[in-house]
Amino acid sequence: MAAGKTLFAVPKAPGKGGRKARYQKKGRQVDPLAAREITALLGDRSRQPDLLLEHLHLVQDTYGYLSADHLTALAEEMRLALAEVYEVATFYHNFTVVKEGDAIPSALTIIVCDCLSCELAVSMAMKRALAEKYGSNIRVTHGACMGRCEVAPVVRVKDRYVGNATADEVDKLIEAEKRNDPPFVPSYTAFTDYNEVGGFSTLAQLRVGDLKAGEIIEMLSDSGHRGLGGAGFPHALKLNSVLSVPGPRYMAVNADESEPGTFKDRHFMNKNPYQFLEGVLIAAEIVDAKKIYIFLRDEYPETAQILTGCIKKLKAEKLDGGREIILRRGAGAYICGEESAMLESIEGKRALPRHKPPFPAHVGLFGQPTLINNVETLYWLPDIIRKGPGWFKEGGRHGSKGFRSFSLSGHVKKPGVYITPAGITAKELIEEYGGGMQDGHEFRAYLPGGASGGLLPASMADIPLDFGTLEKHGCFIGSAAVIVISDKDDLKMVARNLMRFFEDESCGQCTPCRAGTEKALLLMEEDHWDSDLLTELSAVMRDASICGLGQAAPNGLMSILKHFPEAVK
Ligand SMILES: Cc1cc2nc3c(=O)[nH]c(=O)nc-3n(C[C@H](O)[C@H](O)[C@H](O)COP(=O)(O)O)c2cc1C
Ligand code: SF4
Ligand code: FES
Repeated sequence: MAAGKTLFAVPKAPGKGGRKARYQKKGRQVDPLAAREITALLGDRSRQPDLLLEHLHLVQDTYGYLSADHLTALAEEMRLALAEVYEVATFYHNFTVVKEGDAIPSALTIIVCDCLSCELAVSMAMKRALAEKYGSNIRVTHGACMGRCEVAPVVRVKDRYVGNATADEVDKLIEAEKRNDPPFVPSYTAFTDYNEVGGFSTLAQLRVGDLKAGEIIEMLSDSGHRGLGGAGFPHALKLNSVLSVPGPRYMAVNADESEPGTFKDRHFMNKNPYQFLEGVLIAAEIVDAKKIYIFLRDEYPETAQILTGCIKKLKAEKLDGGREIILRRGAGAYICGEESAMLESIEGKRALPRHKPPFPAHVGLFGQPTLINNVETLYWLPDIIRKGPGWFKEGGRHGSKGFRSFSLSGHVKKPGVYITPAGITAKELIEEYGGGMQDGHEFRAYLPGGASGGLLPASMADIPLDFGTLEKHGCFIGSAAVIVISDKDDLKMVARNLMRFFEDESCGQCTPCRAGTEKALLLMEEDHWDSDLLTELSAVMRDASICGLGQAAPNGLMSILKHFPEAVK
């Protein structure tokens, strides 16, 4: 061998410089064992980038957490940049990323809900007691609303939940998890039972042309049916807007239901999933969406099981009309409920809300026109079409039209989901449906629209609850989640709880929301609140935040400053 030559030729970097190239690729190297594990785990599943969240779930479900080696191997396997995979994995609360050198988390974690309905039911005292009891064996932490506020306080261990939680019930949950008992799945209206009451007849009429898409849109417009995810956009207008842009079109169903105090969508999907799915298919037929994504929050595993079975059944019965219904699993981020953030999540990215316009109806999923609807919006479709718009319109009270389903929680005797005439007042809702206030509690205030919709004193409980009736009081109905506050509650705690939620859930994309929620919370930790500064800060958040989260974050705070100034002096 000639002097100066090596056994292996040194690879040359491209270009003229002749600079020596690296012996190994830049960045973190893939661990061969982790690579084999990931390849085997993914099997013949598609490696499309939009499946990143699904694959992260798969890895975490299998190994209990996401290790640095597995993330690197997954990035390689999916041909994605490691930075992107890491960014996505660390964005969502339900993924546990374990960096090199970090301690492996305990196999079980107890999560206690710390959102308002649960904190009213003293969930934080329970969290402290559980932490003391389980000590170092099991991690005890807190988490955001689990969509079961009617049975507050709620505790979660992996995919198992217990409502009206006590230390004994949590014990049973842990034992059930250790024994790997099958998870609880509630019973629901069966396919044949739904068929017997006329189920799928509207869909059939639409398919054979006995009913035209235009006629349905006309009926929906006549009925006054509006989107029930929070914004109340007229449904007929949205369908026409999606139809105004040439296809291919998509449909995305918003089943994220993360607004604290809201649990109506879970109720509808768990009780009568086929009516919900008929609504989905009717809407998909109208806009001719070939692919339908249902984005379901991770906290509803029993719903996922129900829907998976029902979707299979629809396919077997050829009721899906050849349309693909894809169930996507969220990963614990409230912002995914914001429609454009949900689209980002379905595309496998961090859920950062998009700037609008363009609106998703025109440029949505994968850049295509997309119909986005809330679960309940679609649930009503078969009923409105079968029974007629007149039936729906007659449902209202105090000048409102239609029906509303309220998620009622807090200090009432009978919390739950109630379908009531639209325009019912909070007082009527509490007395006629909620069984009145809990013993020993006096009605002091209420939140008409979950954490975002502000707060009103009991003296203003005779305002009809509907779209457009509460705005002049600085509130809105949103997802119709009514949380009832009593004379025993500390209003400072209420306001802090709401602001803490928004601070935790801010996606961090814009400064007014990211820094504003953090700063507001700091000011609210003081004994005496600086109302002028808090008002100024709130105005900046409302005026300059990109999306509804930052714009609505100060609503609770501002309501308390307005209606209960003495409580924060
Ligand atoms: C921060 C934020 C969270 C939201 N969360 C939800 C949600 O959990 N579920 C939902 O259906 N809509 C939610 N929305 C409203 C959606 O952006 C969108 O308006 C809705 O899904 C459209 O469907 P609809 O017209 O049928 O109501 C949220 C909006 C914002 C700004
Ligand atoms: S307002 Fe908050 S949640 Fe919305 S984009 Fe800005 S930082 Fe994200
Ligand atoms: S489940 Fe706790 S506030 Fe909703």
